[in-house]
Amino acid sequence: MNLLEYTALRPFAQRHLLTLQDWTEDEMYQCLSLALKLKAAQKRGERQTQLAGKTLAMIFSKSSTRTRVSFEVGATQLGGSALFLSTSDIQLGRGEPIADTARVLSRMVDGIMIRTFKQSDLEDLARYGSIPVINGLTDEFHPCQVLADLLTVYEKKGALKGLKLAFVGDGNNMAHSLLIGCSKLGIDVAVASPDGYKPKAEYVAWAVQNAQEHGSRVTVCTDPLEACRDADVLYTDVWASMGQEGEAKARRKAFGGVYQINDACLSIAKPDAIFLHCLPAHRGEEVTTSVIDGPHSVIFDEAENRLHAQKAVMCLLMGERA
Ligand code: CP
Ligand code: NVA
Repeated sequence: MNLLEYTALRPFAQRHLLTLQDWTEDEMYQCLSLALKLKAAQKRGERQTQLAGKTLAMIFSKSSTRTRVSFEVGATQLGGSALFLSTSDIQLGRGEPIADTARVLSRMVDGIMIRTFKQSDLEDLARYGSIPVINGLTDEFHPCQVLADLLTVYEKKGALKGLKLAFVGDGNNMAHSLLIGCSKLGIDVAVASPDGYKPKAEYVAWAVQNAQEHGSRVTVCTDPLEACRDADVLYTDVWASMGQEGEAKARRKAFGGVYQINDACLSIAKPDAIFLHCLPAHRGEEVTTSVIDGPHSVIFDEAENRLHAQKAVMCLLMGERA
């Protein structure tokens, strides 16, 4: 499929991006197609005005480099603006109810991006507010990252359906969103994690159901090499996510020496496999320097694509058409 020429099956129906499980395959393709077009227009130096006069509030309860910069720059490039709101500064961090925060922000801005811990907080913002809510990472999901990842895979491979992605490491927010996003687009996805750190059964069940509907396969296993066999895309993420700093030692013990993308994984994957990592990365832990800084790695193209994918998300949810 040529995504630049993708024709939508129906108008974009989504109001929020809480998890990719809420989006249809058609909506994901619309988003990726628009991202490619916005990226090309940006590179040609065309002026973009899709968000003229609109403001995105960005609430952060956790650290960020890529998400913060890409949303703020993206909103600016589209003619709008973005507000950085750390929960250590705003009243939400002192106990003001989410419902009140949602109602107040809905009177002043046009969309909310939030990075926080509980998925239910995001759902409450969407429930009580009257503007689009975008998930900038929760403990459960990281859908914006996966849209950027899929865009990168498409650019490098010229296709999505029929490929295989292997994720080695913690069954975390990234694993969950990759399971969902890949299974919806007909990409085989295999996750290798140690016992006790496997992705949540509820989300694996969603992915298995998606895979049945979209003709792909979902595997959850313990052996990294089994997951990486014949993979087109190798993916990993940190062993201890934000909020799990106190578990770092136990996690190093559970993952150390085994749950790593290294040269052995590359040698069992397809010869032209690419390596992705959402970043930030810990070289020598979940990935070797030889892989992350080697010829198969496309991590900086992937990071750049956060900007283009999220510009598409903002246009679709907050732009004039929305
Ligand atoms: N990948 C990602 O979300 O990066 P940041 O934590 O820097 O936003
Ligand atoms: N799993 C990581 C992803 C960071 C982008 C975390 O939640 O910290």
